[in-house]
Amino acid sequence: MTNHETLVSPVGVTLDRFIKRQQSSLPFASGELSQLLRDIALAGKIINREINRAGLVDITGAFGMENVQGEAQQKLDVIANVRFIRALKNGGEVSAIITEEDEGIIYTDNDEGKYVVAIDPLDGSSNIDVNVSIGTIFSIYRRITPTGTKPTIDDFLQGGRSQVAAGYILYGSSTILVYTTGQGVNTFTYENSLGEYFLSQTDLKSPEDGSIYSVNEGYYNSFVSPARAYITNCKLRDYNSRYIGSLVADFHRNLLKGGIYLYPPSKKHPKGKLRLMYECYPLAFIAEQAGAAASDGYQDILDIEPTELHQRTPMIIGSSEMVRDALSYF
Ligand code: AHG
Ligand code: MN
Ligand code: MN
Repeated sequence: MTNHETLVSPVGVTLDRFIKRQQSSLPFASGELSQLLRDIALAGKIINREINRAGLVDITGAFGMENVQGEAQQKLDVIANVRFIRALKNGGEVSAIITEEDEGIIYTDNDEGKYVVAIDPLDGSSNIDVNVSIGTIFSIYRRITPTGTKPTIDDFLQGGRSQVAAGYILYGSSTILVYTTGQGVNTFTYENSLGEYFLSQTDLKSPEDGSIYSVNEGYYNSFVSPARAYITNCKLRDYNSRYIGSLVADFHRNLLKGGIYLYPPSKKHPKGKLRLMYECYPLAFIAEQAGAAASDGYQDILDIEPTELHQRTPMIIGSSEMVRDALSYF
């Protein structure tokens, strides 16, 4: 038996409507943070479009330059970087930006903007050309220098606990936006044909325990010994090994299914490979809000004292029980 209701199911709550509803409960509820989240979501739509047609136009492959980290830039790294910077400049809420792709602070020439943003415009560079999931990671701070003045490095180096919002966009089998403003984690799925994000999950909670471990085992011999011991333990327990090589995608899977992601110090990266400001802090904030955990092996990621914009850190992140277990090896 069908009736009109079952034939025509509701389309759901759009991101815009959700943000508007939530606005009164946001920190500093003046609407600017809401607008900023919308700017990021819009840039995400544009990147999504670029990625989807990447094979059709000449935007895959290497750009021929190295970024501030000394890593080869892909064309889409550069495109995503430009798109996000433009969106944040045009939005008017942000006074300064740092990104993985640029060494110094990028000023938006809008000193009235109350916020600063740290961003990894495209995460998972090695997967761009091969149709594997990639993402964007962002972290938002309210500036501590007075508005109307030029922002400084201190606006960025406030520490993970000062983030007012953080999130990521995952360009995967579907494109989703996941963010928190410190009141739980909400996820939105992008509907291509309507050009809108729709609410897919409110107050997402990660399983406390799991059996997936994600680590680049090719570096096993060069990892520090506690990491090696823990990885051996994962094998003894017959855990499932899953490693995409895009942090956002690996993190997201483990967040939903229960699992742990590790990037320990290795010979090549003695301080770890991942970047604190625009990879680890934002994901650690999401993890904490979802009941999961993140550590550098010795302290909570969110408690790490930041000293430089492109600081690296080891990271162990995922289901709280699994992280607790892993830390017993450190
Ligand atoms: P990015 O593409 O932004 O430089 O980040 C790559 C990071 C992260 O996404 C991923 O988990 C990790 O590098 C993979 O590193 P390995 O190839 O060393 O495993
Ligand atoms: Mn990255
Ligand atoms: Mn990147």
